[in-house]
Amino acid sequence: MTDNNTAKVALVTGGSRGIGKACALEFAKAGYDVVINYAGNDEAANKTVSEIKDLGQNATAKKFDVSNKEAAEAAIAEIVAEFGRIDVLVNNAGITRDNLFMRMKDEEWLAVINTNLNSAYFVTHPVSKIMIKQRSGAIVNMASVSGIYGNAGQANYSAAKAGMVGFTKALAKELASRNIRVNAVAPGFIQTDMTKDLPVDKIVERIPLKTLGQPEDIAKTVKFLACDATYITGQVIGVDGGLVI
Ligand code: NAI
Repeated sequence: MTDNNTAKVALVTGGSRGIGKACALEFAKAGYDVVINYAGNDEAANKTVSEIKDLGQNATAKKFDVSNKEAAEAAIAEIVAEFGRIDVLVNNAGITRDNLFMRMKDEEWLAVINTNLNSAYFVTHPVSKIMIKQRSGAIVNMASVSGIYGNAGQANYSAAKAGMVGFTKALAKELASRNIRVNAVAPGFIQTDMTKDLPVDKIVERIPLKTLGQPEDIAKTVKFLACDATYITGQVIGVDGGLVI
C-alpha cells in the first residue's frame, strides 16, 4: 500500500466480521499490515479497515468471492502488486447451509464445498507460490469440530471442514522444506453471525467451560500458530471450551 513498505502482510479471507475480523485486528496489533477479503458488506469491510488503521497499520479490503478461482487469482496478484509480499494467509471465509442429508439439495452441498473447501485451494495456490519465492510464510486454515467428529444436519459442512484438515496436513508436509508452516484451528461454538440462531442454552450445557467462545479466542490461537509457534506445523488445534476432549 505504501512505498518502501517493510511490515509483514497478513491476508484474512472473510475478514470483515466475526472470527475473520478478530484475526485481522490481532495481526494488526502484532504489527502486520492486513488485507481483508470479504463477500458483500462494504460497510462492515470499511469499518474493519479503519479499525486496523487506527492500530497504526496499513490495511485494505478486497471484495471477491473465494469460491471463484479467477477472482481469487486476480485479487492475489493485486495484493502482491500493492504490498509486495504475503507472510500470513488465514483461510477463514465460510458459510453453512444446514439440512438433513436426505433433504439436502445440490445447491446446499455445492455452495458449502465451494466456499469452505475449494476456496482454500483457489486462494492458497497463488499465495503459496509467493511464499515459496519468499522462502517463508505461515498458513492457518479454519476447520471446525464438525470436520473432526461430524455433525448431524451438516454433512456438507463436515465434509468441507474434514477436507480442510487433510489439506492442512498434506500441505504442511509439502511446504515445510520451503520454511512455510501450515496449521488449522478447529473452533467449537463461537458467538458470531453464523451461530446467532442456535439454541445457546442447550449448547452451553454441553461445553465444559460453560460458555460460547468469542471470536478473539480463535484469533489469539490463529496468531499464535502463524507468528509464535515456530516449530509447529501440520497440527489442528481445537478451540472449543472442552467440547471435544
Ligand atoms: P461469519 O458468518 O460471521 O463470517 C463469515 C465471513 O466469511 C464473512 O466475512 C463473509 O463475508 C465471508 N464469506 C462468506 N462467503 C464468502 C465468499 N464466497 N467469498 C468471500 N468471503 C466470504 O462466520 P464466522 O463464525 O466468523 O466463521 C468464520 C469461519 O469459522 C468459517 O470458516 C466457519 O465455518 C468457521 N467456524 C465458525 C464457528 C462458529 O461457531 N462461529 C465454528 C467452527 C468453525
